[in-house]
Amino acid sequence: MKRSYRKGIIPSNIQIAPNIYEMKLATCDPGFGFKGKPGQFYMLRGWEAMDPFLARPISISDISNGVITFLYEVRGRGTHIFSKLKEGDVLELLGPLGAGFDLNVKGKVALISGGIGIAPLIYLMKRLGNNMDFYCGFRSVPYYTDRIEGKVNNIYITTEDGSVGHKGFVTELFIPEKYDTVITCGPTPMIKTVVEMCKEKNVPVYVSMENRMACGIGTCLGCAIETTSGMLRVCKEGPVFSGEEVIFDD
Ligand SMILES: Cc1cc2nc3c(=O)[nH]c(=O)nc-3n(C[C@H](O)[C@H](O)[C@H](O)COP(=O)(O)OP(=O)(O)OC[C@H]3O[C@@H](n4cnc5c(N)ncnc54)[C@H](O)[C@@H]3O)c2cc1C
Ligand code: FES
Repeated sequence: MKRSYRKGIIPSNIQIAPNIYEMKLATCDPGFGFKGKPGQFYMLRGWEAMDPFLARPISISDISNGVITFLYEVRGRGTHIFSKLKEGDVLELLGPLGAGFDLNVKGKVALISGGIGIAPLIYLMKRLGNNMDFYCGFRSVPYYTDRIEGKVNNIYITTEDGSVGHKGFVTELFIPEKYDTVITCGPTPMIKTVVEMCKEKNVPVYVSMENRMACGIGTCLGCAIETTSGMLRVCKEGPVFSGEEVIFDD
């Protein structure tokens, strides 16, 4: 199926924490609403000239009435440009892309996020329903935790500087054997630790990988990672993988 970039218009793009922004996008095409399931992502281009050349992958953080929400951290040139966009500005986006999370998980679920890895897990939390604990780790100022409170059994917040919640890493609070399924997204060292902890206790774990991407649609192979089934593309076979199959660098 041929896919092409669509235009989206911005109803709001606001800073919610240092370097962290929430951007909403409504469709510019009558009769079209944004779609996608938790774990899928869109390639976003907020610039008219081909500079920067590549669009940037950002996860779906929510979709409501066809309006899509993205939560993003300003890291470099692309996300800096996003942060300067204003209400009424138009950007181009392609998606939904990738294979999302399995929504048929049973039993007690732990969602574990590190930093901006909270973005896809918020949408997943909304779609999974109940019987979940949410562990979210931040460097300093937490964000989006107000959307979690009251929706899960327990929320565990950690900050590296101790400004809110437990001082330290989120993996210091996590007890894998309490859960039937664990789902995680965040920095690779955190994901790797969560996977090792789950493997040790034989608890199924799913990871959402955030590798650098070029095409986002499976053609350039730039995002491939090593797995027990060979090299797999994060943008096509992923970004969600079973933690057991990903081979992490030492
Ligand atoms: C499937 C997927 C979903 C993602 N979802 C989100 C999301 O919901 N919110 C969000 O803020 N970010 C998300 N990311 C990461 C986001 O795509 C990058 O942060 C963004 O492309 C950086 O673009 P830039 O131009 O601002 O930075 P660049 O100038 O390209 O890079 C700036 C710095 O960020 C590092 N960097 C760039 N891309 C990545 C990456 N993918 N992972 C880790 N470090 C990177 C670079 O090494 C460099 O140090 C996702 C990535 C993937 C693959
Ligand atoms: S980014 Fe091109 S194959 Fe994944």
